[in-house]
Amino acid sequence: MKTKVEIIGNKKLGERAAEHFYFLAQKYIATKNQFTVALSGGSTPKNLYSYLVNFYHTKIDWRKLYFFWSDERFVPFDHAESNGGMAFTFLLKPLKIQKPNYFPIPTEDIEPVQSALEYESNLRFFFGEKETTPQIDLILLGMGEDGHTASLFPNTEALNKTDRLVKENWIPKLNTWRITFTFKLINSAQNVIFLVTGKEKATVVRDILSKKNTSYPSALVHPKAGELLWLLDEQAAKYL
Ligand code: 6PG
Repeated sequence: MKTKVEIIGNKKLGERAAEHFYFLAQKYIATKNQFTVALSGGSTPKNLYSYLVNFYHTKIDWRKLYFFWSDERFVPFDHAESNGGMAFTFLLKPLKIQKPNYFPIPTEDIEPVQSALEYESNLRFFFGEKETTPQIDLILLGMGEDGHTASLFPNTEALNKTDRLVKENWIPKLNTWRITFTFKLINSAQNVIFLVTGKEKATVVRDILSKKNTSYPSALVHPKAGELLWLLDEQAAKYL
């Protein structure tokens, strides 16, 4: 695994992330005639989405991209908190991307356990990988102030699930269920990009990248055969 860190100033993180997304899209479309992407949740990706919609809508053959989510809050797709709903509103709908080019995590009329099993089965079916672990071309991740990523929060059950690709995860501090990729799936990706902004994350970023504290969930992201890129704004990188 190769780890790269880029510190992006002047609020240009979204622009730089879009540039790299475009580079990877062209690479995989040219070599595999498709590009598989797992989107992160939270608010940080909105800036990336805005650049992709405004500056790349004609540069990328969006019909060859397939979107998944690395985690989901257990709310309806049209709920304000939905990661899938957010990406649909700010990325998929403006680019007129329709099913079957995106695969939301099921959260309606289904229990968390079933949702995780169904999403894992959908991933295996799409990638044609019944036994081995699918290698998603790009997984976008955010990081919380506590060092969580996807919905792999500190001291939660899904952290240790090595036999599953997707897992329901009870988050005591939020008193809620989440559905999340496991490290098994994340660390099989070809490319992982962390998009992290804000001074409130700077200490955790420093501790992870300096290897001072490798217990944070985000510190456990090591794509075995892939590339790991941290895209940080100046605030999140202030202690590096
Ligand atoms: C979620 C996530 C989570 C998110 C981080 C950062 O569902 O909340 O996927 O891992 O990426 O909490 O969130 P922000 O981008 O909003 O800071």
